[in-house]
Amino acid sequence: MRTVRLRINGQSVMREVPDNRLLIDLLRYDVGLTGTKEGCSVGVCGACTVLMDGQPVSSCLTLAVMANGAEVLTIEGLAEGERLHPLQRAFIESGGFQCGICTPGQIMAAKALLDVNPQPSKEEIQTWMMGNLCRCTGYYKIIEAIQAAATEKVGP
Ligand code: FES
Ligand code: FES
Repeated sequence: MRTVRLRINGQSVMREVPDNRLLIDLLRYDVGLTGTKEGCSVGVCGACTVLMDGQPVSSCLTLAVMANGAEVLTIEGLAEGERLHPLQRAFIESGGFQCGICTPGQIMAAKALLDVNPQPSKEEIQTWMMGNLCRCTGYYKIIEAIQAAATEKVGP
């Protein structure tokens, strides 16, 4: 067992975890943040994407001990009180999800893109989001949502 100290969505968290505890399990089962979803469990689908020190990572491939000292941002940390993040509003308004399993990972990956490139082209969005799979939407609405969030065409 090891002690892991990190910040999750701005809150300090400390947990005793086995060496092989995965970050996704720390988030979902130890901390109770079930917004992060598990799809493939092998680093292929992107559903489990969270930001670790601002970088998108697959939490199903990341050991919890690797997050020691890090700042982790999950989907639960995006809204400010009742006010949704522009990406969250855009996904709702654009119909960028159906079953929703991929959506938290899509939004976190998109946030990482807009943080470094606030006005990406459609092609840049498509390339960046290649690691995030969706079985429902056909991707067009996801791309539209990210474009809308980038231009703030996401409601009041
Ligand atoms: Fe982590 Fe698919 S659940 S990449
Ligand atoms: Fe169902 Fe993307 S909305 S997998």
